[in-house]
Amino acid sequence: MTVPTCLTVTRPAAPLSGTVVVPGDKSISHRALMFAGLAIGETRIDGLLVGEDVLRTAAAMRALGAEIRRDGATWYVVGRGIGGLTEPEDVLDMGNSGTAARLLCGILATHPLTATLTGDASLRRRPMARVTDPLVRFGARFMTRAGQRMPLTVRGADVPIPINYVLPVASAQVKSAILLAGLNARGDTQVTELSPTRDHTENMLRHFGAKLGVTTGAEGTQITLAGQPELRAAPITVPGDPSSAAFAIVAALLVPGSAIRIDGVGINTLRTGLFTTLAEMGADIAFTGHRLAGGEPVADITVRQTALRAVDVPAARAPSMIDEYPILAAAAAIAAGTTRLRGLQELRVKESDRLTATAALLAANGVAVAVEGDDLLITGQAGPLPGGGSVATHMDHRLAMTGCVLGLGARDPVTIDDMRFVDTSFPGFIPLMNRLGAGLATPCA
Ligand code: S3P
Repeated sequence: MTVPTCLTVTRPAAPLSGTVVVPGDKSISHRALMFAGLAIGETRIDGLLVGEDVLRTAAAMRALGAEIRRDGATWYVVGRGIGGLTEPEDVLDMGNSGTAARLLCGILATHPLTATLTGDASLRRRPMARVTDPLVRFGARFMTRAGQRMPLTVRGADVPIPINYVLPVASAQVKSAILLAGLNARGDTQVTELSPTRDHTENMLRHFGAKLGVTTGAEGTQITLAGQPELRAAPITVPGDPSSAAFAIVAALLVPGSAIRIDGVGINTLRTGLFTTLAEMGADIAFTGHRLAGGEPVADITVRQTALRAVDVPAARAPSMIDEYPILAAAAAIAAGTTRLRGLQELRVKESDRLTATAALLAANGVAVAVEGDDLLITGQAGPLPGGGSVATHMDHRLAMTGCVLGLGARDPVTIDDMRFVDTSFPGFIPLMNRLGAGLATPCA
């Protein structure tokens, strides 16, 4: 099916129902390709997310010398070994992906080569100082545009020095960039995080045979990586992305009478803040069939539509649901009472300024919202929201999908200006939603 750029979404006449499987986890997919490219031997990857963002990482790792091929749904990567990547002949275009760009900066910082990274207009606006600042301490040099933005050129350290770094922002991307750089520095690299962030990098380092020490105390979590380990190829099965499942789950909560199941979703507790929050709002969500996939916990999720009540989400929960605030805001729009989402400063530097854009998309559809400092307040309708407005997506996949879900719970049709970026993280979003009965098909008039 051809996806229209601009989409009009109306409330479905019948409840959503059925069982679906969402595409592979984006964070784990990037890391699988990167670690496999740094390992010795051939890594088999099943369930890789074939989204634009991950394809950028695949192209970059290929340009750096890794052999990557695809056979149906299975991917095979022959790595170069730590320190073994080769200088790319051309600029590496990371598209829309902050994760790809920032993690790659980490890898390149401790390889003795020169590379230039660019991205689309959204990525070129995003701050890179958060990775370049610590990475220069390894001995790397960076040339950036004003404001430490991309395009940037990195000259990796010839003799990398391990570092000891306390993360000033709760960011798994920054933590991962440092650990990836530390792989090729002789000695111990140490990162301390004050609030826990997703630990897929740590899990995958262990999976590939690196030695990692993790201690948690009053001063946060300290991760110590012994440099220059031999990473050995190890098969990976990528679980379904909880951040993608979130859209179908909230859709089922917005359409009366719905009951759906999503199989094989990653439920790493550092990613499940949305599920905790929805349960606090009164959502009926059940997890069954707990198992492991590629070293990560996975379950099947069943959700049944129930009335939701407003909630106060603490700032401390933000790292475990950082990508889920726009879709949580859609749930808050139909809940009874005023929801307060605290400590959303990091949302301002995502694929768009998601704090401003989320407030704008709700306001355009008749929902009372306010931004107070870094908090977002949403007064729910205790039922369907008015709708009838448009959603400006600002090159941001999650705003586009949030707009669609919002439209499913609105009295009047909601228009989403640009659906193209959905493919960065959730290829097949529209057909999957339509298998559940969403009926997303109408191009804008
Ligand atoms: C990611 C970390 C988060 C998240 C992004 C993926 C990762 O970013 O928003 O979508 O894979 O490490 P920050 O680390 O900047 O919070």
